[in-house]
Order: sequence, then C-alpha cells, then structure tokens
Amino acid sequence: MIHRAVGTVYTNCVLFLLIWSVNGLEEIFGDFETLTSGQGWYYKGCTVDLNTDSFTGHHSLHVINRQAAWGGIYFDVSVKPTTNYYFRARIKLLNLSPGKLTSNVQVTTLVNSTEHGSQHPKLGEVRFMQPNVWQEIGGDFTTPSDVTGVSVYVQLHDIDVNYLLDSAVFNEVPALSSTWRQDSDILIDKLRKDDIQIRVQEESGSSNLTVELQQLKSEFAFGSAVNAEYIVNPNYKGYQDFFYDTFEWGVLENKLKWKQMEWSHGHVNHDVASNAINAMVEKGTKLRAHNIFWGIEKNIPKWQSSIPDDQIKGTLVDRLNDIVPFTKRKVEHWDVNNENLHGNYYEEKTGDVNLTMWMFRETRKLDPNVKLFLNDFAVVNERYFGEAYYNQGMMFKTTPDVPIYGIGVQSHLKTHVDPEVLKFRLDRLARIGLPIWITELDISNYDVNAKADYLEDVLRLYFSYPSIDGIMFWGFWSGRISKPAAALADGSPNNVKANPAGERLRKLIKQDWRTNESKSLSSGSTTIRAFRGDYSLKLLKNGHIIHSENFTLSKGGRYLDLHLAGSTVSIIG
Ligand SMILES: *[C@@H]1O[C@H](CO)[C@@H](O)[C@H](O)[C@H]1NC(C)=O
Ligand SMILES: *[C@@H]1O[C@H](CO)[C@@H](O)[C@H](O)[C@H]1NC(C)=O
Ligand SMILES: *[C@@H]1O[C@H](CO)[C@@H](O)[C@H](O)[C@H]1NC(C)=O
Ligand SMILES: *[C@@H]1O[C@H](CO)[C@@H](O)[C@H](O)[C@H]1NC(C)=O
Ligand SMILES: *[C@@H]1O[C@H](CO)[C@@H](O)[C@H](O)[C@H]1NC(C)=O
Repeated sequence: MIHRAVGTVYTNCVLFLLIWSVNGLEEIFGDFETLTSGQGWYYKGCTVDLNTDSFTGHHSLHVINRQAAWGGIYFDVSVKPTTNYYFRARIKLLNLSPGKLTSNVQVTTLVNSTEHGSQHPKLGEVRFMQPNVWQEIGGDFTTPSDVTGVSVYVQLHDIDVNYLLDSAVFNEVPALSSTWRQDSDILIDKLRKDDIQIRVQEESGSSNLTVELQQLKSEFAFGSAVNAEYIVNPNYKGYQDFFYDTFEWGVLENKLKWKQMEWSHGHVNHDVASNAINAMVEKGTKLRAHNIFWGIEKNIPKWQSSIPDDQIKGTLVDRLNDIVPFTKRKVEHWDVNNENLHGNYYEEKTGDVNLTMWMFRETRKLDPNVKLFLNDFAVVNERYFGEAYYNQGMMFKTTPDVPIYGIGVQSHLKTHVDPEVLKFRLDRLARIGLPIWITELDISNYDVNAKADYLEDVLRLYFSYPSIDGIMFWGFWSGRISKPAAALADGSPNNVKANPAGERLRKLIKQDWRTNESKSLSSGSTTIRAFRGDYSLKLLKNGHIIHSENFTLSKGGRYLDLHLAGSTVSIIG
C-alpha cells in the first residue's frame, strides 16, 4: 500500500491507464450478459434468448428459428472515415443441417457512403465449421473516405443451424508507429542476432592480429520456388546461378504434387522431382516439399474423380506410402493437405471431418523428422480467412497426437496491403503459438521501383516478426513465374539478372541482414554482434592466416577462446 497522497494519485493513474489500455485494445461490446438492446446489436429473421454456455462472462446469445441465411445477429458500429477496423466474435454451432459435415459461416458488412450508396463487402469466412466448439469469426476492413454508416452481420448459409454467439469485439486495427521501419532494425537486432565473443590469449605478448568473420549461411530461411526442369537443364545456367546465389532454401513449384506425379492411376513418375531434389541437396540447398494432398477438386488427380467413395482412403494411403519415404531425409518440411480452408474434397469423400489430422499422423509414422505444415492463402494478403486459419491451427495444436509443426502463410500480394493491416493479420495467426513460415510470397506490380519499395516493407515486417522463421518466394524469374508482375529478375535463361526489386532483395538478405566483418585485436577479447547462422572465422597475424574454423551462431551466442603459442593456435572453448 502506498499512503502518500502523491503516490496514491500516481497509483490510480497507472491503474486507470492499465484498464484503459486493455479495454482500448479489445473492447467487448457484445458480451450478451443481458438481453437488453441498445448495446449496438440487433436481430432479425430469428428469435434470441440467453444461454449460460458462454465464451466470456456468464451468458451468450442463443440464436434459433432462423428464417433465412440473413436471419441472425447484426451490429451497428460507429466508424471514422479512411480507418482500418476489425470485427471478431465467438460462435458455437449447436447442430448441422442433416447430412452435412460442417457449415459455412460468414461475417458480412453493409457499408453506406455518399458516392457508392450501400455496398456489402464480406469480412471473413469459415467454410467448414464444425459444431459444438467455440470458434472465432471476423475480419478487417477499411472505411471509405465518405462513409456514412456501417453494419456488421453474422450469416450462416444453412438456415436450420442454431448457434450461440459471444464476445463480440469491434475496434480500430492497432496503428503501426510512423517510425516502424527504423524500429524494425532494433527488433531485427534483438530477434535475429547474437554475440560472438572472441578471446585470444597469447604467450608472447601482444601482436598484430585480425579476426575475419564471414557468414556462410543464414539461420532465418530465405528461399524460392523453382521449376524442377530448369534447375537441372544446362540451358538454364543463368536461372540456376541466380537461384543458388540468392537463396538457401528451395521448393519445387509443381513436381511433387500428386496430380503431376501420377497422371494415370498407378503410374507414378518420380524422375523429374528426384533429379531436381538431388541436384539441390547436393548444392546444400534446404528443401520444403509441396504438397502431399490438395483437396480442392480441380487439383486432385483426374483419375480420382471416378474412384468410389469407399476406396478413396485407400488411394490416400498409397500416396502416403509412396511420397513420404521418397523424400525422407531430403526435405525439411511437408505441406500436408494444401489449402484445406478452401477445399475439403477428401473430408467429404470419406465422411471424416478430421481427415487432415489423420493425414498428419500417417505422415509422421512414415517420417519421424520431417516438419509438417498447414499451408493456405487469403489469410494475410486478403482479410477473409484469418479467423478460419486461427480456428484450424488451434484445433490441430490442441488435439493430442496431431504432429503439426507450423503454419504456412502463402502471402500472394496482388494489391498493396497496408503494413499495419498485414501486421494485424499476422498477429491474428501468431496467437496460435506455432512457428509461421511465409511459403509463397510474391508481390505483383509492373512498376519495379514501387515493387522494390513495397518488397522492402514486407520483408522488414516479416523479418522483424517474432514467430516467422522463413520466407519463400513463389518464383523469381520473369521467364518462369506464375504471376509475371511479381518477377524479381529478367533476362535470357543463360543470363538472369536482378531487376530493381531483385536488387533490393539481394541487398537486404545478402548484405544488410548478413554479417561479414573484420576486426583488428591485440591480445584480449572482442565481441561481434552477428546474424545467426553458419560462419567461417579466420585469424590473421601480420596479414597471414594462422587459424581458420567454421562454427554456427545460434540463439544464446557463441564464445570462442583461442590460445596462441608462436603461430600455433589451440581452441580452449
Ligand atoms: C445504410 O443505407 C440503407 C439504405 O439507405 C439504410 O436502410 C440503412 O439503415 C443504412 N445503414 C447504416 C448503418 O447507415
Ligand atoms: C474433430 O476434432 C475435434 C478437435 O479434436 C473434435 O473436437 C471433434 O469432436 C472431432 N470431430 C469428430 C466428428 O470426431
Ligand atoms: C566481405 O567484406 C570484404 C571486405 O569488406 C569484401 O571484400 C568481401 O567481398 C565481402 N564478402 C561478402 C560475401 O560480402
Ligand atoms: C599489421 O598487419 C597488417 C596486415 O594485416 C600490416 O599491413 C601492418 O603493417 C601490420 N602492422 C604492424 C605494426 O606490424
Ligand atoms: C568452412 O566452410 C567452407 C564452406 O563450406 C569450406 O570451404 C571450408 O573448408 C571450411 N573451413 C573449415 C576450417 O572447416
């Protein structure tokens, strides 16, 4: 207890600020503790009452007798023009439509503005929601400059589904400081660097010593998708040189996909993938593998559509037994069931809503070491699927024996997403508490200088973001890239040259975010703060190398203790 008057005032102020900041960040404006209206929420085309099964507080809203897809709860929210907002709530479905595995839940808006009248942009969607668990719904949006009013709607396609709703939040997206670019360097230093302490003890007094430190590899992964043929074809030497000189990680764009490996049932072609993988492993490139399954109907192997439902699972087992041992010890990661937020072909065919968890477990049985990922799109570059991904990630993480390692975020940036919004969407996923990898980054813009600037913003944000451990581009060369406006390099197959965006990338990852330092030292010690990764160290005496060694700098730092007797060097620690 502080009894002095000044102290009390101070304490109250701090308390007030604490409460204010907590509420300021996540103000629950629809906690549904009572049925009184006037709290910003309304209902139509349904009836509501209170239920004691709640996500927060003691009650939630129980929504029944829905008469149409639009029948349900909506919110009138007060907004300012040209501002980023988010809506978030918890929902629990109490039943499903007969014969259905899941139900589609959306959050939509009504945005009124003077120039465009009423528009109805969608905020977020959970395509395949399971019943009987609290799940998150929501999304973010930016108000137009002439906004006059906004309503937010919770909408379920299936009219006969009843639900509970709780913990509704509407708020501004937290602002990024105007100095965030400079500040990112501080975060990067804290997150990505550590100290190398070097101590040299010399028997014969001090002499003219220099230590040279050169980083060979980065702990943080920078990589790209590659074309499996071009990476081994001698006519594409320029393509290969650019790739190997810029990136330390690779992923085959297409040739590990089931449809591409097995055009006709039972005839699996391993050769193209095998040649490319072996060539890259030989060069010391680390590999992500993409993907075992892809349950979006247009991407399944063609022959599979004529397989009877009760035989589908057998084909999945065959695929696992073929592909997982094939890549074992050669790849670091597998994307197990690509884009599962967008397609549940195999769940529908087998009637098993948790089939993807089974896929993860089966993959683990065949390879105990490979790291297993979900991988999805429109989770940060668009606003729609972030909550769905949060739900899925949490469900996988909290279900026993589901060997999930990380969350793959594709990040195909077709439009300029405000870094503040991009960070908000990452924060949404980081709450899962698993490592995030950016798996398919591309930035489409034919103005290469604007692309270079935005690329730097995006890379700064991602590289300074604690849960992100790697960034893979989805191609780099204009001669072979799925989105031509995203190219980082141009030229002929034998002479691939960085464009301004590619140059910016190389400056950041090969220069600014890499350590290459020389320091002269007399007997004694020196500390060099360096990016984590693999190093080559050389100790020079009067310009002559008297000792070299390689080591890895990882979290926690590195201490090197060298003992010199004449020109003999022994390592003490
Ligand atoms: C939006 O405009 C429509 C049509 O004029 C009106 O019915 C509705 O109440 C308005 N909603 C808000 C939130 O301003
Ligand atoms: C699917 O898995 C979730 C999470 O473990 C679980 O709550 C749910 O009951 C499972 N669904 C079925 C139909 O088994
Ligand atoms: C490291 O720095 C030295 C001296 O500044 C320079 O000559 C060399 O090219 C650099 N190496 C790399 C890989 O950047
Ligand atoms: C120290 O070594 C450098 C070469 O690394 C040489 O140029 C310099 O003359 C030496 N200085 C002394 C005092 O020996
Ligand atoms: C350090 O690694 C480099 C690159 O792999 C290699 O060329 C060199 O021989 C290694 N040096 C030592 C001392 O092991």
